[in-house]
Amino acid sequence: MGQPTPARKDRDWWRTAVIYQVYVRSFADGDGDGTGDLAGVRARLPYLAGLGVDALWFSPWYRSPMTDGGYDVADYRAIDPAFGTLAEAEKLIAEARESGIRTIVDIVPNHVSDRHPWFRAALAAGPGSPERALFHFRPGRGTHGELPPNDWPSQFTGSTEPVWTRLPDGDWYLHLFTPGQPDLNWAHPAVRREHEDILRFWFERGVAGVRIDSAALLAKDPDLPDLASRPHPHPFVDRDELHDVYRSWRRLADAYDGVFVGEVWLPDAERLARYLRPDELHTAFNFSFLSCPWDAPRLRTAIDTTLAEHAPVGAPPTWVLCNHDVTRTVTRYGRADTAFDFGTKAFGTPTDLILGTRRARAAALLSLALPGSVYVYQGEELGLPEAEIPVARIQDPMYHRSDGADPGRDGCRVPLPWVDGMPYAGFSTQDPWLPQPVDWTSYAVDRQQRDPDSMLSLYREAIALRPVFGDASLTWLPAPDGVLAFARAEGAVCVVNLAPTPAVLPAHSRLLLSSGPLDEAGRLPQDTAAWLRV
Ligand code: GLC
Repeated sequence: MGQPTPARKDRDWWRTAVIYQVYVRSFADGDGDGTGDLAGVRARLPYLAGLGVDALWFSPWYRSPMTDGGYDVADYRAIDPAFGTLAEAEKLIAEARESGIRTIVDIVPNHVSDRHPWFRAALAAGPGSPERALFHFRPGRGTHGELPPNDWPSQFTGSTEPVWTRLPDGDWYLHLFTPGQPDLNWAHPAVRREHEDILRFWFERGVAGVRIDSAALLAKDPDLPDLASRPHPHPFVDRDELHDVYRSWRRLADAYDGVFVGEVWLPDAERLARYLRPDELHTAFNFSFLSCPWDAPRLRTAIDTTLAEHAPVGAPPTWVLCNHDVTRTVTRYGRADTAFDFGTKAFGTPTDLILGTRRARAAALLSLALPGSVYVYQGEELGLPEAEIPVARIQDPMYHRSDGADPGRDGCRVPLPWVDGMPYAGFSTQDPWLPQPVDWTSYAVDRQQRDPDSMLSLYREAIALRPVFGDASLTWLPAPDGVLAFARAEGAVCVVNLAPTPAVLPAHSRLLLSSGPLDEAGRLPQDTAAWLRV
């Protein structure tokens, strides 16, 4: 077959890309109101270009009451006024592209905001109306309809709240997340048509890809049966009907060379791979890698399973250490339990940030050396820890809906520190929407830019060097217990030592990069990774 042509290579950018997640609200504030915005992102494009990322994934930037941080969309074709305007988004997409950076938007198809015109119309139209058929409205159970229509659990782990809300007219409506996020009825043709039109709208505006929120939840068993009585197939997770939806999305995207990344949280890698068949989604987030503890055999299994399940469908894997929903990496790796699990998050978990940071540096080199694409969540490149938000200022519905048992996700959404010594670390000129911890300026971008040993310098160097690994497959090298060592392409090797004893590096011609210093004997200390030219 020979070498791919440059045009083909360009079209395949997503197979090896480094994609940076922008949570707009907390990235940079351009107008000084305490909330990040598109002006802030545009002003910081040189920073992102300097970091070397290939694409930006924007968490939802649409008009929204922000009940769930924008994952409650009132208008999929408008930018929230707090963030800017559609014209500005178009400028941002174009300017980023001029800097060599593509744009990925975040589409939320499972539910809309309760302020979405469709839901307002459904409320007004009353029980049995065609407007209500776009959602899941049902009468309640019990003598007076006072009990919810079924037993489905909330998709916010730990939530004590029901997924049904009753209206004064007696009908109940389904919302797998908050009551502000009514679920759409994906068996309705108008729902499918509308979403295809939304995709077209954004592809026409030059976006290169779409992240699909809650991608495995859209289809529901039409009977809405109790989960306890009919668990298989699951009434709302990973239903077979979904694949038909994504096949038609794929046909649409192909006309624009657009790509998809699905948010598909499924424990079963084989089921996940079904979404990645050649005529469905291009990629999906690798949550098994994200959730994996800092443990060599477990990581190796996660990597092997990922590779084995992706290979038959020809989809590149993705490598993700964190995002806007999970505990920041340096914090997670600094705890006794280094796995991520929504069910075990708790306030006040003891954390060793020095240890966590050392491991996170090694994990960065590990994930950037693996075959496939890599996601970097804003602030990960600064080594930001999970912040403890004073309870009175917590905004995340996950906290409120769990009656305060779950600390929520605000701790990983705190506005970025840009400038040391400036009020609010240069994020804004006003108290930001979430408070920054007192030591936030020690992580400031300008400070890290001056420090060759900073997390930011490590990420920048690693992203620049990453092409040495090419797009070749991975071969494990013999290594002692607790050491992960693999070769990629011609002569690039990654070694990660998770064992207490320093590891002797394989023979090499050059040490390209390491996440920390080697010892006096040139060995790789515990929780350190190195890239070698051999
Ligand atoms: C996804 C998002 C999360 C949101 C949920 C509901 O999991 O990543 O932030 O709360 O969907 O839209």
